[in-house]
Amino acid sequence: MPADIISGKELAQTIRTDLAAEVAALKAEHDIVPGLATVLVGEDPASVSYVTAKRRACEQVGVRSLHHELSADTTEAQLLKLIDKLNNDPAVNGILVQLPLPDHIDENAVIYAINPDKDVDGFHPVNVGRLLIGEARFPPCTPAGIQEMIVRSETPTEGAEVVVIGRSNIVGKPIAVMMLQKAPGANATVTLCHTRTKDTAAHTRRADILIVAAGVPNAVTADMVKPGATVIDVGVNRIGTTDSGKAKLAGDVDFDAVKEVAGKITPVPGGVGPMTITMLMKNAVAAAKLTLS
Ligand code: GUN
Repeated sequence: MPADIISGKELAQTIRTDLAAEVAALKAEHDIVPGLATVLVGEDPASVSYVTAKRRACEQVGVRSLHHELSADTTEAQLLKLIDKLNNDPAVNGILVQLPLPDHIDENAVIYAINPDKDVDGFHPVNVGRLLIGEARFPPCTPAGIQEMIVRSETPTEGAEVVVIGRSNIVGKPIAVMMLQKAPGANATVTLCHTRTKDTAAHTRRADILIVAAGVPNAVTADMVKPGATVIDVGVNRIGTTDSGKAKLAGDVDFDAVKEVAGKITPVPGGVGPMTITMLMKNAVAAAKLTLS
């Protein structure tokens, strides 16, 4: 029997509706409208489309979107100056600098400059540390979206074998940490595979939950998946353009073959992507609520 499809698109709509109600209550009860500053440096097409989707989500949820577009030759000092201004602007609750940045800008210097209380990406070392000790304030958006999909699809996690492919700071490392916490929706035994792992398939075949963030189309084939497993595909690979000129996307999982083996699977597009953006909205609302305490 083919796998159940976990629709990130549908789950995201449900959560965004709940968030919109929360935003309306913040306005009614405290006269607060959460403000999210997005910063885009250059014109990388993928980054442009991500930021556009994030701004659209702000509109849907009622978060005020404050957008800054800088040219690709912006210096690091200019970008740091803007961040300082946003850190000190009370109308800005969350700051998101879209990555990757041009090569001449030190990404870590930029991440470190963001006030941790406005770091809705959860990338600042203070927030990474909080995540590690199970005290997350802003769980990073893609891992948070993944965990939400696992929970809402009613995939058991307690004692489950979770295998993650990919060790990035944005996805692989944080989702591994989140799934091993002593907490609901976690409590799993986690294996993190990467480009130097000797026999990745030997690990993935044991996985009750397989999370793939390899950045390589078809990195996971049907023979690598345990029957009945939940497979979360984080890949967003641009493999050409559609007839209407839009980017054609493929995940990291051979979807058509793997759906015949897996119990549950996320599609690309319409899977992790919309959930990531929704978790950003959730963090923006949480950032606004911090100002109440
Ligand atoms: N680029 C790819 N994913 C992300 C993300 O989650 N946040 C930011 N700021 N940039 C990204």
